[in-house]
Amino acid sequence: MSILSGVSDFFGLDIGTTAVRVVQLKGSGPVKALDRYGESEITGTTALSDSKADQQKVIQVVRELVKKVGISTKNAAVNLPSHRVFTTVVDFDKMPPGDLAKAIRYQADSFIPNPWAQSKTDWAVIGDSPKDATKSEVLLSSVPNDFVENRLDMLETIGLNVIAFEPDSMALARAIIPADAVSPQMVLDIGSHATDLVIAMKGIPHLTRAIPTGSNAIVRAAVSSLSIEQAQAEQFVFKFGLGKDKLEGQIYNAIIGTVDGLMGEIEKSIKFFSGRYPTAQLERIIVTGGASALPEFPLYIANRFGLNVEIGNAWRNVSYPADRQNELLAVSNHYAVAAGLAERSA
Ligand SMILES: Nc1ncnc2c1ncn2[C@@H]1O[C@H](COP(=O)(O)OP(=O)(O)OP(=O)(O)O)[C@@H](O)[C@H]1O
Ligand SMILES: [Mg+2]
Repeated sequence: MSILSGVSDFFGLDIGTTAVRVVQLKGSGPVKALDRYGESEITGTTALSDSKADQQKVIQVVRELVKKVGISTKNAAVNLPSHRVFTTVVDFDKMPPGDLAKAIRYQADSFIPNPWAQSKTDWAVIGDSPKDATKSEVLLSSVPNDFVENRLDMLETIGLNVIAFEPDSMALARAIIPADAVSPQMVLDIGSHATDLVIAMKGIPHLTRAIPTGSNAIVRAAVSSLSIEQAQAEQFVFKFGLGKDKLEGQIYNAIIGTVDGLMGEIEKSIKFFSGRYPTAQLERIIVTGGASALPEFPLYIANRFGLNVEIGNAWRNVSYPADRQNELLAVSNHYAVAAGLAERSA
């Protein structure tokens, strides 16, 4: 283990709602090579449950996946799911780090919903406040102790050593957003139960939010509006997506209300962001996550907001042999969080 850069051998572990994903990189320097990756499904709502039995099931999926993929280290950088993490940006007077820590501690109750003693709160100064240059803008993240301790214990029981916990949004931003992009970029990770939204500038997240709408809600809309079975609805929705001229627009009409609900939430975030940073112009939206593969969804988002929408590439900061390009790009929308965790400097 190096003294300066911490643990150098570790892998990224994303325990998501519908799957567990792992990514291990090798080599050193700014661009590391892909060593191994893989995923295993988690069925039903097991991953969202707080019951001990369900959590055991999830941990067994992790254990088997680590073995199957042949991960060669015990050290893991692990995600904190967005629905468990509270993140906000608060302005503070400029002061030395020790004083800032105290100021945050004293005022925490007014901007963090979790009780201080029962949660772990981290912060980072991200720049001057856009409202008042005499103040600093501080990014705060808070997660309940129970959740972290429980996850730590469970991962230990299968022989893993957690070197870091990191919110999904931070890992996403690292993997997907070009670090040198000066103008703000939005990432949407459209998953099964939720859509994670991050707006970052110069690689630093300035706004993060979890919107409780994902592919499940969209499929549910098709089930109820067309009175069809879940499996059938899934098939239609994944095949035709937002194609208006498919099946005489039946799928489009069935799901558009739910999709527009999500668009409305994204719009609120864009408005909030431009209110706080009036001079910053959102440059593009980058989409990832299982449901970003919904046909014509990216185009719909682009037209709705008049912005460029790109398909995110989870492997953009990773090197790999050219003959694996197709295989990797086919699954790229699943791996942003795991890749971002693996790309941490430790
Ligand atoms: N071709 C497709 N088109 C649209 N949606 C799809 C397609 N294939 C899979 N999905 C949906 O993507 C969802 C999984 O997305 P993803 O893998 O991003 O979720 P997750 O990472 O497990 O969730 P989270 O990050 O919220 O914990 C599945 O529930 C499925 O409904
Ligand atoms: Mg995910």
